[in-house]
Amino acid sequence: MARDILIGIDVGTTGVKVLAVTTQGDLAASAIEAYPLYTPQTGWTEQEPADWWQATKLALKRTLAALPADRLLAVGLSGQMHGMVALDAKHQVVRRAILWNDQRTASQCRELTDLAGGPEALLAMTNNQMLTGYTAGKIRWLQQAEPDNFAHTRLILNPKDYLRLCLTGSVLTEVSDASGTGLYDVQNNRWHTGLIRRAGLDPALFPPVVASTEEAGRISEEAAAQTGLPAGLPVSGGGGDAVISTTGLGLVRPGRIGITLGTSGVVAMGLDAFMANPEGKLQVFRGNAPGSFTAMGVTLAAAGSYHWFRQALGQHEREQAGQTGRSAFQLLDEAAGATEPGAAGLIFLPYLTGERCPIHDPAARGGFIGLTGLHEKGHFARAVLEGVAYSLRQVHALIAANSPDRQGEGTVILAGGGAVSPVWRQIFADVFQLPVQTVYGSAEGGSFGAALVAGVTAGVWTSLPEAVRLVRTESETLPDPSRAAVYAALYDRYTRAYGALQPLFA
Ligand code: XUL
Repeated sequence: MARDILIGIDVGTTGVKVLAVTTQGDLAASAIEAYPLYTPQTGWTEQEPADWWQATKLALKRTLAALPADRLLAVGLSGQMHGMVALDAKHQVVRRAILWNDQRTASQCRELTDLAGGPEALLAMTNNQMLTGYTAGKIRWLQQAEPDNFAHTRLILNPKDYLRLCLTGSVLTEVSDASGTGLYDVQNNRWHTGLIRRAGLDPALFPPVVASTEEAGRISEEAAAQTGLPAGLPVSGGGGDAVISTTGLGLVRPGRIGITLGTSGVVAMGLDAFMANPEGKLQVFRGNAPGSFTAMGVTLAAAGSYHWFRQALGQHEREQAGQTGRSAFQLLDEAAGATEPGAAGLIFLPYLTGERCPIHDPAARGGFIGLTGLHEKGHFARAVLEGVAYSLRQVHALIAANSPDRQGEGTVILAGGGAVSPVWRQIFADVFQLPVQTVYGSAEGGSFGAALVAGVTAGVWTSLPEAVRLVRTESETLPDPSRAAVYAALYDRYTRAYGALQPLFA
């Protein structure tokens, strides 16, 4: 039988997704396995790396059940970025991983910026400011708060590279996740060993870096026995989810802007040349195609906000879902869709875990503003969907203003789990007053992009720009011009709310 299946694995924040994609770009099989997220204190987020591996083994077995092993070509890895997996000399996990949306490291990030010589000096080194999400602050926190754990640490990996270790035994990362540590010289494509040393760290803590499309390990005999993948199958470098899901949308060159609605909201654009990052407002990382870059801005709680709403206030919908065979999200969407655009003036601020972009403030907090006695559940649901859209419109404006020749101002590509909601797609089209498209595979997040990258590694395509030619439009939602005025007014109020409330958050 011809080898025609690529496997994409995405270690997300709520679970792992394994996807089998044919070389024609069609979805052949998939499985999701969830795992817990721990919040030992407000603002802290942690996961057990062993849970990622256990869930991946289960999801791989389920995905591969109906696929003959001799059809498989290669595996691509994607994952939540920036998370710190600390390993000892025997590659045993030292403590729970600290995640991308953890906010405990504000003072460590300030110290690291000072050690670099200030914000401008840091930007000259890495092209990024030191965000609390990035790995570097977490390592410094470990050094200061858990010196015993730090003393045992010999290696720092990001989540998908920990999975690579489990699958292949190889200790490697690739350019996009390396960029997201805050210690990588993005322009010159190498660890910034000067900065690493100034931070008091040994450069040997960090793995060698390959291109995303390069082969970076092969499935070991041990992993083969546990997953059903054939031993020796090549694993590509892969990429951080925010970068590789943008690749999966076909956005490897400047042009359209993609918005991925996962737990976080990622607004991103592919670049074929280096772009400076004025004031460090964006994240400018290495891209998945060799020599490419990605400019993006990330809000911390996008679909994560709706997930919170369902858990905290959607008990009725969760119960109903069991009885009606529809999901609680569909029922909440229905309630939101039945209320008027603008949620009768109710505005939601999605800063549930602080915020990163365009406001970088770990202390920011969420809220509902403008509440009256007339508001019902549907207004709240709608306000959550709209608030996330306002937040991402702010980030979109920033990316579009910085895009080469302002090319990014046209159609928006919407992706990630949130993009399956027709109500949310219409809200985005109306709030942005731009056409919103989805593409085949766009709801799959990083796993689809990871499969395409694996295809380049396996030689199915000669390059990523060639691979993404098979990305095809699936839906288009047009803006309703009669809603422009109400959303323009509410968006203006939304953008002023943070400034007015900031003294209360501090
Ligand atoms: C990217 C980022 C998030 C996580 C979520 O910079 O922090 O998108 O990668 O998985």
